[in-house]
Amino acid sequence: MDTRPLGTTGPQVSALGLGCMGMSALYGDADRSEAVATVHAALEAGVTLLDTGDFYAMGHNEMLIGEALRTAPAGLREQALTSVKFGALRDPDGNWGGVDGRPAAVRNFAAYSLQRLGVDHIDVYRIARADPDVPIEETVGAIAELVEKGYVRHIGLSEVGADTIRRAAATAPISDLQIEYSLVSRAIEEQILPTTRELGIGVTAYGVLSRGLISGHFNADRTLAVNDFRAHSPRFQGDNLRHNLTLVEALREVAEHKGVSVAQIAIAWVLSRGEDIVPLVGARTRERLTESLGALDVTLDAADLAAIERAVPAGSAAGDRYPAPQMAHLGTTE
Ligand SMILES: NC(=O)c1ccc[n+]([C@@H]2O[C@H](COP(=O)([O-])OP(=O)(O)OC[C@H]3O[C@@H](n4cnc5c(N)ncnc54)[C@H](OP(=O)(O)O)[C@@H]3O)[C@@H](O)[C@H]2O)c1
Repeated sequence: MDTRPLGTTGPQVSALGLGCMGMSALYGDADRSEAVATVHAALEAGVTLLDTGDFYAMGHNEMLIGEALRTAPAGLREQALTSVKFGALRDPDGNWGGVDGRPAAVRNFAAYSLQRLGVDHIDVYRIARADPDVPIEETVGAIAELVEKGYVRHIGLSEVGADTIRRAAATAPISDLQIEYSLVSRAIEEQILPTTRELGIGVTAYGVLSRGLISGHFNADRTLAVNDFRAHSPRFQGDNLRHNLTLVEALREVAEHKGVSVAQIAIAWVLSRGEDIVPLVGARTRERLTESLGALDVTLDAADLAAIERAVPAGSAAGDRYPAPQMAHLGTTE
Protein backbone atom coordinates (compact mmCIF):
# COMPACT_ATOMS: atom_id res chain seq x y z
CA MET A 1 0.00 0.00 0.00
CA ASP A 2 1.11 3.57 -0.67
CA THR A 3 2.35 5.44 2.36
CA ARG A 4 2.23 9.07 3.40
CA PRO A 5 4.19 10.98 6.03
CA LEU A 6 2.45 12.29 9.14
CA GLY A 7 3.99 15.72 8.93
CA THR A 8 7.71 16.39 8.77
CA THR A 9 8.38 14.85 12.19
CA GLY A 10 5.88 11.97 12.31
CA PRO A 11 6.00 8.42 11.01
CA GLN A 12 5.36 7.21 7.48
CA VAL A 13 1.91 5.55 7.57
CA SER A 14 -0.41 3.76 5.16
CA ALA A 15 -2.27 6.16 2.85
CA LEU A 16 -5.52 5.06 4.55
CA GLY A 17 -5.79 4.61 8.29
CA LEU A 18 -8.41 2.52 10.08
CA GLY A 19 -10.61 4.41 12.54
CA CYS A 20 -11.82 1.88 15.10
CA MET A 21 -14.37 3.96 17.06
CA GLY A 22 -17.48 2.45 15.44
CA MET A 23 -16.31 -1.03 16.44
CA SER A 24 -17.21 -0.14 20.04
CA ALA A 25 -19.47 2.86 20.14
CA LEU A 26 -21.46 5.69 18.61
CA TYR A 27 -22.87 3.98 15.49
CA GLY A 28 -25.07 1.32 17.11
CA ASP A 29 -24.20 -2.32 17.76
CA ALA A 30 -21.02 -3.78 16.29
CA ASP A 31 -19.91 -7.41 16.09
CA ARG A 32 -16.72 -7.92 18.13
CA SER A 33 -15.34 -10.90 16.26
CA GLU A 34 -16.02 -9.22 12.91
CA ALA A 35 -14.34 -6.08 14.24
CA VAL A 36 -11.20 -8.02 15.22
CA ALA A 37 -11.26 -9.76 11.82
CA THR A 38 -11.53 -6.33 10.17
CA VAL A 39 -8.44 -5.07 12.01
CA HIS A 40 -6.55 -8.20 10.92
CA ALA A 41 -7.73 -7.80 7.31
CA ALA A 42 -6.64 -4.16 7.36
CA LEU A 43 -3.16 -5.09 8.60
CA GLU A 44 -2.94 -7.81 5.96
CA ALA A 45 -3.84 -5.27 3.28
CA GLY A 46 -1.00 -3.02 4.44
CA VAL A 47 -2.89 -0.59 6.69
CA THR A 48 -0.53 0.49 9.46
CA LEU A 49 -2.41 3.25 11.29
CA LEU A 50 -5.07 2.24 13.83
CA ASP A 51 -6.95 5.12 15.44
CA THR A 52 -8.79 4.93 18.75
CA GLY A 53 -9.71 6.93 21.84
CA ASP A 54 -9.54 5.73 25.44
CA PHE A 55 -13.11 7.03 25.92
CA TYR A 56 -14.63 5.03 23.03
CA ALA A 57 -16.97 2.91 25.15
CA MET A 58 -14.76 3.63 28.18
CA GLY A 59 -11.72 1.52 27.28
CA HIS A 60 -13.64 -1.08 25.26
CA ASN A 61 -12.16 0.07 21.95
CA GLU A 62 -8.59 -0.04 23.23
CA MET A 63 -9.13 -3.52 24.66
CA LEU A 64 -10.56 -4.61 21.31
CA ILE A 65 -7.49 -3.30 19.49
CA GLY A 66 -5.30 -4.94 22.14
CA GLU A 67 -7.01 -8.27 21.40
CA ALA A 68 -6.65 -7.75 17.64
CA LEU A 69 -2.92 -7.02 18.04
CA ARG A 70 -2.40 -10.01 20.36
CA THR A 71 -4.12 -12.37 17.93
CA ALA A 72 -2.76 -10.87 14.69
CA PRO A 73 -0.80 -13.20 12.43
CA ALA A 74 2.96 -13.11 12.99
CA GLY A 75 4.63 -10.02 11.59
CA LEU A 76 1.44 -7.98 11.30
CA ARG A 77 1.37 -6.81 14.91
CA GLU A 78 4.75 -5.12 14.47
CA GLN A 79 3.57 -2.99 11.54
CA ALA A 80 0.65 -1.51 13.51
CA LEU A 81 0.96 2.09 14.67
CA THR A 82 -1.48 3.18 17.36
CA SER A 83 -3.01 6.66 17.37
CA VAL A 84 -4.79 7.29 20.67
CA LYS A 85 -6.95 10.16 21.87
CA PHE A 86 -7.47 10.88 25.54
CA GLY A 87 -8.98 13.53 27.78
CA ALA A 88 -12.73 13.06 27.39
CA LEU A 89 -14.34 12.18 30.72
CA ARG A 90 -17.14 9.62 31.03
CA ASP A 91 -19.27 8.14 33.80
CA PRO A 92 -20.44 4.52 34.21
CA ASP A 93 -23.64 5.33 32.30
CA GLY A 94 -21.56 6.62 29.42
CA ASN A 95 -22.45 10.28 30.00
CA TRP A 96 -19.84 12.84 28.92
CA GLY A 97 -18.24 14.99 31.62
CA GLY A 98 -15.94 17.48 29.91
CA VAL A 99 -12.26 17.11 29.24
CA ASP A 100 -9.13 16.89 31.37
CA GLY A 101 -5.79 18.01 29.95
CA ARG A 102 -3.85 18.52 33.19
CA PRO A 103 -0.36 16.99 33.07
CA ALA A 104 -1.13 14.55 35.90
CA ALA A 105 -4.24 13.42 34.03
CA VAL A 106 -2.25 12.99 30.80
CA ARG A 107 0.18 10.64 32.57
CA ASN A 108 -2.70 8.75 34.18
CA PHE A 109 -4.62 8.33 30.90
CA ALA A 110 -1.46 7.10 29.15
CA ALA A 111 -0.69 4.53 31.84
CA TYR A 112 -4.13 2.94 31.43
CA SER A 113 -4.04 3.05 27.63
CA LEU A 114 -0.71 1.23 27.50
CA GLN A 115 -2.20 -1.55 29.62
CA ARG A 116 -5.44 -1.85 27.67
CA LEU A 117 -3.65 -1.87 24.32
CA GLY A 118 -0.97 -4.25 25.61
CA VAL A 119 1.84 -2.19 24.10
CA ASP A 120 4.97 -0.59 25.53
CA HIS A 121 4.46 2.67 23.66
CA ILE A 122 1.76 4.64 21.82
CA ASP A 123 2.76 5.88 18.37
CA VAL A 124 0.72 9.09 18.27
CA TYR A 125 -0.92 10.50 21.40
CA ARG A 126 -3.31 13.46 21.43
CA ILE A 127 -5.94 15.13 23.53
CA ALA A 128 -9.36 14.72 21.88
CA ARG A 129 -10.42 18.32 22.57
CA ALA A 130 -8.27 21.06 24.07
CA ASP A 131 -9.08 21.55 27.77
CA PRO A 132 -10.39 25.13 28.07
CA ASP A 133 -8.99 25.33 31.62
CA VAL A 134 -5.47 24.08 30.86
CA PRO A 135 -3.12 25.88 28.44
CA ILE A 136 -2.33 23.64 25.46
CA GLU A 137 1.37 24.15 26.25
CA GLU A 138 0.90 22.25 29.54
CA THR A 139 -0.96 19.35 27.93
CA VAL A 140 1.46 19.06 25.01
CA GLY A 141 4.39 19.51 27.41
CA ALA A 142 3.17 16.53 29.44
CA ILE A 143 2.99 14.38 26.29
CA ALA A 144 6.50 15.57 25.36
CA GLU A 145 7.71 14.19 28.71
CA LEU A 146 6.11 10.84 27.81
CA VAL A 147 7.99 10.99 24.49
CA GLU A 148 11.26 11.54 26.38
CA LYS A 149 10.51 8.49 28.55
CA GLY A 150 9.71 6.32 25.50
CA TYR A 151 6.04 5.76 26.28
CA VAL A 152 4.89 7.87 23.32
CA ARG A 153 6.57 8.33 19.93
CA HIS A 154 4.79 11.36 18.47
CA ILE A 155 2.44 14.14 19.56
CA GLY A 156 -0.78 14.83 17.68
CA LEU A 157 -3.64 17.28 18.00
CA SER A 158 -7.38 16.88 17.51
CA GLU A 159 -10.05 19.40 16.51
CA VAL A 160 -8.18 22.58 17.40
CA GLY A 161 -7.98 25.89 15.55
CA ALA A 162 -5.04 27.66 13.94
CA ASP A 163 -3.94 29.56 17.07
CA THR A 164 -3.85 26.44 19.19
CA ILE A 165 -1.96 24.58 16.46
CA ARG A 166 0.70 27.32 16.49
CA ARG A 167 1.00 27.31 20.28
CA ALA A 168 1.28 23.52 20.39
CA ALA A 169 3.89 23.49 17.61
CA ALA A 170 5.92 26.10 19.47
CA THR A 171 5.97 23.75 22.49
CA ALA A 172 7.02 20.46 20.85
CA PRO A 173 7.11 18.78 17.41
CA ILE A 174 3.56 17.92 16.27
CA SER A 175 3.08 15.07 13.78
CA ASP A 176 -0.54 15.55 12.76
CA LEU A 177 -3.84 17.22 13.42
CA GLN A 178 -6.85 14.92 13.48
CA ILE A 179 -9.89 16.79 12.22
CA GLU A 180 -13.09 16.23 10.24
CA TYR A 181 -12.65 16.67 6.49
CA SER A 182 -14.88 15.46 3.70
CA LEU A 183 -16.79 16.67 0.69
CA VAL A 184 -19.44 17.99 3.08
CA SER A 185 -17.08 19.30 5.81
CA ARG A 186 -14.56 21.58 4.12
CA ALA A 187 -14.13 24.31 6.73
CA ILE A 188 -10.48 23.36 7.38
CA GLU A 189 -9.53 24.60 3.92
CA GLU A 190 -9.76 28.25 4.94
CA GLN A 191 -7.34 28.64 7.86
CA ILE A 192 -6.39 25.26 9.27
CA LEU A 193 -4.88 23.52 6.25
CA PRO A 194 -2.72 26.54 5.35
CA THR A 195 -1.49 26.56 8.97
CA THR A 196 -0.67 22.85 9.16
CA ARG A 197 1.07 23.09 5.78
CA GLU A 198 3.12 26.09 6.86
CA LEU A 199 4.21 24.26 10.01
CA GLY A 200 4.87 20.85 8.41
CA ILE A 201 2.06 19.14 10.30
CA GLY A 202 0.07 16.32 8.67
CA VAL A 203 -3.68 15.81 8.80
CA THR A 204 -5.48 12.60 9.72
CA ALA A 205 -8.94 13.27 8.31
CA TYR A 206 -11.89 11.70 10.05
CA GLY A 207 -15.54 11.55 9.01
CA VAL A 208 -14.50 11.26 5.36
CA LEU A 209 -17.87 9.60 4.79
CA SER A 210 -19.54 12.08 7.14
CA ARG A 211 -20.25 9.19 9.50
CA GLY A 212 -21.87 7.13 6.77
CA LEU A 213 -24.07 9.97 5.45
CA ILE A 214 -22.20 10.20 2.14
CA SER A 215 -21.26 6.51 1.95
CA GLY A 216 -24.06 5.71 -0.47
CA HIS A 217 -25.39 3.13 2.01
CA PHE A 218 -27.41 5.47 4.24
CA ASN A 219 -31.11 6.13 3.68
CA ALA A 220 -33.81 8.21 5.34
CA ASP A 221 -35.74 5.13 6.56
CA ARG A 222 -32.94 3.95 8.81
CA THR A 223 -33.90 3.84 12.50
CA LEU A 224 -31.05 4.96 14.73
CA ALA A 225 -30.58 3.77 18.32
CA VAL A 226 -30.71 6.51 20.95
CA ASN A 227 -26.98 6.02 21.67
CA ASP A 228 -26.10 6.40 17.97
CA PHE A 229 -24.32 9.73 17.43
CA ARG A 230 -26.30 10.25 14.25
CA ALA A 231 -29.62 10.24 16.13
CA HIS A 232 -28.54 13.64 17.50
CA SER A 233 -26.42 14.97 14.63
CA PRO A 234 -28.05 17.94 12.86
CA ARG A 235 -27.02 16.54 9.47
CA PHE A 236 -29.11 13.43 9.97
CA GLN A 237 -32.36 15.17 10.96
CA GLY A 238 -35.54 15.65 8.90
CA ASP A 239 -35.19 18.18 6.09
CA ASN A 240 -31.41 18.38 6.55
CA LEU A 241 -31.11 14.64 5.96
CA ARG A 242 -33.42 14.74 2.94
CA HIS A 243 -31.38 17.58 1.41
CA ASN A 244 -28.05 15.90 2.18
CA LEU A 245 -29.18 12.65 0.59
CA THR A 246 -29.94 14.53 -2.65
CA LEU A 247 -26.24 15.52 -2.68
CA VAL A 248 -25.36 11.85 -2.27
CA GLU A 249 -27.56 10.91 -5.23
CA ALA A 250 -25.78 13.54 -7.36
CA LEU A 251 -22.45 12.09 -6.22
CA ARG A 252 -23.70 8.59 -7.06
CA GLU A 253 -24.12 9.63 -10.69
CA VAL A 254 -20.48 10.75 -10.82
CA ALA A 255 -19.37 7.53 -9.10
CA GLU A 256 -21.40 5.31 -11.45
CA HIS A 257 -19.99 7.14 -14.45
CA LYS A 258 -16.52 6.22 -13.18
CA GLY A 259 -17.52 2.68 -12.28
CA VAL A 260 -16.80 3.08 -8.57
CA SER A 261 -18.95 3.27 -5.44
CA VAL A 262 -20.09 6.46 -3.71
CA ALA A 263 -17.92 5.70 -0.67
CA GLN A 264 -14.90 5.13 -2.90
CA ILE A 265 -15.27 8.44 -4.72
CA ALA A 266 -15.78 10.29 -1.43
CA ILE A 267 -12.64 8.75 0.08
CA ALA A 268 -10.66 9.23 -3.16
CA TRP A 269 -11.60 12.92 -3.13
CA VAL A 270 -10.04 13.35 0.35
CA LEU A 271 -6.96 11.40 -0.80
CA SER A 272 -6.67 13.78 -3.76
CA ARG A 273 -6.47 16.86 -1.51
CA GLY A 274 -2.77 16.39 -0.76
CA GLU A 275 -0.06 13.95 0.28
CA ASP A 276 -0.15 15.49 3.75
CA ILE A 277 -3.67 14.14 4.35
CA VAL A 278 -4.36 10.59 5.56
CA PRO A 279 -8.05 9.64 5.61
CA LEU A 280 -9.18 7.47 8.52
CA VAL A 281 -11.96 5.19 7.34
CA GLY A 282 -14.48 3.99 9.90
CA ALA A 283 -14.95 0.49 8.46
CA ARG A 284 -16.02 -2.03 11.08
CA THR A 285 -16.63 -4.99 8.79
CA ARG A 286 -14.37 -6.62 6.23
CA GLU A 287 -16.90 -5.82 3.52
CA ARG A 288 -16.79 -2.08 4.25
CA LEU A 289 -13.01 -2.23 4.59
CA THR A 290 -12.64 -3.81 1.15
CA GLU A 291 -14.86 -1.12 -0.33
CA SER A 292 -12.81 1.63 1.37
CA LEU A 293 -9.48 0.22 0.23
CA GLY A 294 -10.78 0.30 -3.35
CA ALA A 295 -10.58 4.10 -3.12
CA LEU A 296 -6.79 3.81 -3.33
CA ASP A 297 -7.15 2.66 -6.94
CA VAL A 298 -9.38 5.57 -7.97
CA THR A 299 -7.59 8.34 -9.84
CA LEU A 300 -9.49 11.59 -10.17
CA ASP A 301 -8.62 13.84 -13.08
CA ALA A 302 -9.59 17.48 -13.46
CA ALA A 303 -12.90 16.59 -15.15
CA ASP A 304 -13.76 14.15 -12.33
CA LEU A 305 -12.95 16.74 -9.69
CA ALA A 306 -15.09 19.33 -11.46
CA ALA A 307 -17.99 16.85 -11.68
CA ILE A 308 -17.65 16.05 -7.97
CA GLU A 309 -17.59 19.75 -7.14
CA ARG A 310 -20.78 20.30 -9.17
CA ALA A 311 -22.49 17.37 -7.43
CA VAL A 312 -21.47 18.46 -3.93
CA PRO A 313 -20.46 22.13 -3.96
CA ALA A 314 -18.45 23.34 -0.97
CA GLY A 315 -20.77 24.35 1.86
CA SER A 316 -23.83 22.66 0.35
CA ALA A 317 -24.58 20.28 3.23
CA ALA A 318 -27.45 21.19 5.53
CA GLY A 319 -26.91 21.11 9.29
CA ASP A 320 -23.84 21.41 11.50
CA ARG A 321 -21.47 18.47 11.84
CA TYR A 322 -22.07 18.22 15.62
CA PRO A 323 -24.97 19.14 17.94
CA ALA A 324 -24.77 22.79 19.05
CA PRO A 325 -23.17 22.30 22.52
CA GLN A 326 -20.29 20.34 20.98
CA MET A 327 -19.65 22.82 18.15
CA ALA A 328 -18.01 25.20 20.64
CA HIS A 329 -15.19 22.72 21.29
CA LEU A 330 -14.17 22.17 17.68
CA GLY A 331 -11.33 23.49 15.54
CA THR A 332 -13.72 25.10 13.05
CA THR A 333 -17.01 26.88 13.60
CA GLU A 334 -18.68 24.99 10.75
N1 LIG B 1 -10.74 13.39 16.53
C1 LIG B 1 -12.05 13.33 16.57
O1 LIG B 1 -12.70 14.23 17.10
C2 LIG B 1 -12.77 12.16 15.95
C3 LIG B 1 -14.16 12.17 15.87
C4 LIG B 1 -14.79 11.08 15.28
C5 LIG B 1 -14.05 10.03 14.79
N2 LIG B 1 -12.69 10.03 14.89
C6 LIG B 1 -11.88 8.90 14.40
O2 LIG B 1 -12.01 8.82 13.00
C7 LIG B 1 -12.45 7.50 12.64
C8 LIG B 1 -13.33 7.59 11.41
O3 LIG B 1 -14.47 8.38 11.72
P1 LIG B 1 -15.92 7.91 11.39
O4 LIG B 1 -16.04 6.48 11.80
O5 LIG B 1 -16.89 8.87 11.90
O6 LIG B 1 -15.88 8.03 9.83
P2 LIG B 1 -16.65 7.64 8.58
O7 LIG B 1 -15.77 6.71 7.83
O8 LIG B 1 -17.09 8.91 7.95
O9 LIG B 1 -17.99 6.91 9.01
C9 LIG B 1 -18.05 5.57 9.36
C10 LIG B 1 -19.47 5.12 9.14
O10 LIG B 1 -19.68 5.02 7.72
C11 LIG B 1 -20.37 3.84 7.39
N3 LIG B 1 -19.85 3.28 6.13
C12 LIG B 1 -20.56 3.00 5.04
N4 LIG B 1 -19.79 2.55 4.06
C13 LIG B 1 -18.54 2.52 4.52
C14 LIG B 1 -17.31 2.14 3.97
N5 LIG B 1 -17.19 1.68 2.75
N6 LIG B 1 -16.22 2.22 4.74
C15 LIG B 1 -16.31 2.69 5.99
N7 LIG B 1 -17.47 3.07 6.59
C16 LIG B 1 -18.58 2.98 5.84
C17 LIG B 1 -20.14 2.90 8.56
O11 LIG B 1 -21.38 2.34 8.81
P3 LIG B 1 -21.69 0.79 8.90
O12 LIG B 1 -20.58 0.15 9.65
O13 LIG B 1 -22.97 0.76 9.60
O14 LIG B 1 -21.78 0.36 7.48
C18 LIG B 1 -19.78 3.79 9.73
O15 LIG B 1 -20.94 3.95 10.52
C19 LIG B 1 -13.15 6.98 13.88
O16 LIG B 1 -13.20 5.58 13.89
C20 LIG B 1 -12.30 7.56 14.97
O17 LIG B 1 -11.14 6.72 15.17
C21 LIG B 1 -12.06 11.10 15.45
